[in-house]
Amino acid sequence: MRSREEAQALDAQDTLAPLRALFSLPEGVIYLDGNSLGVLPRATAARVQQVVTDEWGTGLIRSWNSAGWITLPQRIGDKIARLVGVGAGELVVADSTSVNLFKVLSAALAIAKADDPKRTVILSERSNFPTDLYIAESLARQHGCTLVLAEPDELPGLLNAQLAVLMLTHVNYRTGRMHDMAALTAAAHRAGALTVWDLAHSAGAVPVDLAGAGADFAIGCGYKYLNGGPGAPAFVWANPRHADRFWQPLSGWMGHAAPFQFTPDYKPAPGIARYLCGTPALLSMAALECGVDTVLAAEPLGGMAALRTKSLALTRAFAQIVQARCPELSLASPADDALRGSQVCFAHPTMGYPVMQALIARGVIGDFRGGDKSHPAGAMDILRFGFTPLYLRFVDVWDAAEHLRQVLQSGEWREERFNQRAAVT
Ligand SMILES: Cc1ncc(COP(=O)(O)O)c(C=O)c1O
Repeated sequence: MRSREEAQALDAQDTLAPLRALFSLPEGVIYLDGNSLGVLPRATAARVQQVVTDEWGTGLIRSWNSAGWITLPQRIGDKIARLVGVGAGELVVADSTSVNLFKVLSAALAIAKADDPKRTVILSERSNFPTDLYIAESLARQHGCTLVLAEPDELPGLLNAQLAVLMLTHVNYRTGRMHDMAALTAAAHRAGALTVWDLAHSAGAVPVDLAGAGADFAIGCGYKYLNGGPGAPAFVWANPRHADRFWQPLSGWMGHAAPFQFTPDYKPAPGIARYLCGTPALLSMAALECGVDTVLAAEPLGGMAALRTKSLALTRAFAQIVQARCPELSLASPADDALRGSQVCFAHPTMGYPVMQALIARGVIGDFRGGDKSHPAGAMDILRFGFTPLYLRFVDVWDAAEHLRQVLQSGEWREERFNQRAAVT
């Protein structure tokens, strides 16, 4: 892409362009943070209002049956299942990603150790998202296991007879680097281990084929590329070959085989329903369904394959333009399409935070992720830009890159106001 006119021409040819109208985008904003919090779908406010006024206000407790509230975790789960390559009835929406990770990692550890008690290692990536590492650290302590952290290229060499579970985020939250799920799952299985995949940056962003890869467990976020709203419920999937093998530890009544028999003893529901725990947050669920529907709206236009093609074109163009115009920044995401998720990150040794603040003040919203200074391999400070092909245009890519160039060349990022760290970066 060499000019704004060329960007406009690409937008004119874009068959996914009509999907932008499904979103309520603020005027004057180029939103490159859908990998953190997706944009508000136009349908959400009216749907949540309807749930509040009609289903709750008028239907009251009857709505658990009459409005189908009780089966919402399954109904939305079946929709998400279509985006991650699994069958209806195999995936449910519940709780948060962190809580769901606790459930599936507990199950995976229990199954791996039941099959071979000598397996005591959980293997993950050093720059995996911290909540994943913290949950794994806690479970490792409880189960007498060791959490081993490695760089991506070291992982294949660590798949051995001690390994219980390979736990990875499919698309890395910092760099956007995407693992080969099928190859790593097959390699882990050859070593006798199980896999847990965090799809936080994959569901709705890149095609995912959990069943084709033969993966064991997966979890993911509702508020990123699924546009479900702040703190939206998350999802959880267990391969049907494992689903009935283990009681996940948060054995709440919604995961019981017959919750309304109110028996004093726990009998887990068959299949993935046992991964439910307590009463679902209905208002958040209603918003999440509207968000998932925006991704499914792409199905008649080519679905995830078409979204992926556009996402790669957007990220490729942004990476190339910024590299050519902003020599002070170094590309921290893979240049190779096959290895890149739907985000592009740039590293700068010192000024990442104020540069992002200055960019946000211009209406170009991305985010900043600081490095891990406690480790010699210390991940770099990162300027992070997420690209949601449902609502982004090629002209947004062009304009965002131009703003970034201006912020750097003018030195406006040096202003005091851009150097005050807020709680959320
Ligand atoms: C890979 C990954 N996992 C999990 C989470 C968050 O989990 P939770 O929704 O429980 O806060 C994030 C949030 O950014 C993430 O990037």
